[in-house]
Amino acid sequence: MSLERGYEQQLSINSNHIDSSVNEFTTAFLDSSVDQEIITLVSTNRRDIPPIHFGLLIYASYQFALLDTQNQSDLSDISWHEAISHINKHNLDLLEESILEKHVSITSPGRYSALAIATKSLFDNPQDLVVLDAGCGYYPMGIGHSLEEYLPYALDQESNNLVESINGNGFPYKKALAVDIQKPEPAWAAACTWQPLDQLHDTFSKFSEAKNNVSSSVEFQQLDLIEKPPNVSENVDVVFLANVLYQLSDQQKEKFLSNINKVIAEDGIILTADYLPGGSRKREFTYAVQSKVLVNGDISPGQNLFYLDTASCSQIRTADQH
Ligand SMILES: C[S@@+](CC[C@H](N)C(=O)[O-])C[C@H]1O[C@@H](n2cnc3c(N)ncnc32)[C@H](O)[C@@H]1O
Repeated sequence: MSLERGYEQQLSINSNHIDSSVNEFTTAFLDSSVDQEIITLVSTNRRDIPPIHFGLLIYASYQFALLDTQNQSDLSDISWHEAISHINKHNLDLLEESILEKHVSITSPGRYSALAIATKSLFDNPQDLVVLDAGCGYYPMGIGHSLEEYLPYALDQESNNLVESINGNGFPYKKALAVDIQKPEPAWAAACTWQPLDQLHDTFSKFSEAKNNVSSSVEFQQLDLIEKPPNVSENVDVVFLANVLYQLSDQQKEKFLSNINKVIAEDGIILTADYLPGGSRKREFTYAVQSKVLVNGDISPGQNLFYLDTASCSQIRTADQH
């Protein structure tokens, strides 16, 4: 299938998206006069992007351009049809720039609570571990943020054991290195969320505030992990790959993993948070945290540790509860 065809197919999937704001946007975009032009722009210039990543990149880029042009009161009753024609008139350059350069970066603190719980279940002393968060997204919202308030229904609701075990301990690792190809930017993080337009500006303010809330135990490095490994002073014990691999083609994945291989300790592990094969937002508990290892440069199929209700992770089940 041609890339262009793949992108069009992804748009038709997004016009039936489970989230109504993505759905509304896609319908308005396909009705607009610029849809073909933008599909051609992407299929010519962003051959690195798999179709599954593409529809959401367009959506996020429009939200980003809109944040740059509108103030909060303008957003309160604007429709996607109006917003798209407004951007086409006033802010097409910024729109095109983000479509050409950016990566979708939906960051969820809940995922990091799930990963902290998983780490705790595998290691006696997580506070001695060096962790690499590869493809960290907007890191103040994930690993750099306090983990306690997320995942409130974690695990066994009768004993509540694992929730207690991460609560109250502050930052749960010795140190963490958070790496992403793009630098943390509140406006882009807000643009990547799936919220109704009237909430976009509030989300942007919330993320700007979160930026001041970064743990001093997290070091951030901006780099492309397909191109090079992170700079480390000691090898890392645990690598988090949370919702990252789906954005990479097979060829990119191989290079990305080979760079991780260069910094992981001999007995280090990888924890992934991802949908299981065939999993989806429409079917609860098909999202899982798995522990994996690298074998001859490839990632092992992995062992399921926990199942989560969705990718935003507000409820968790153990493998034996499943
Ligand atoms: C969907 S976000 C997930 C963010 C975060 N890990 C989470 O689970 O909440 C995927 C992230 O991977 C990053 N990414 C994609 N390709 C990358 C690369 N080649 N090197 C480093 N980061 C990359 C994107 O910029 C994006 O922030």
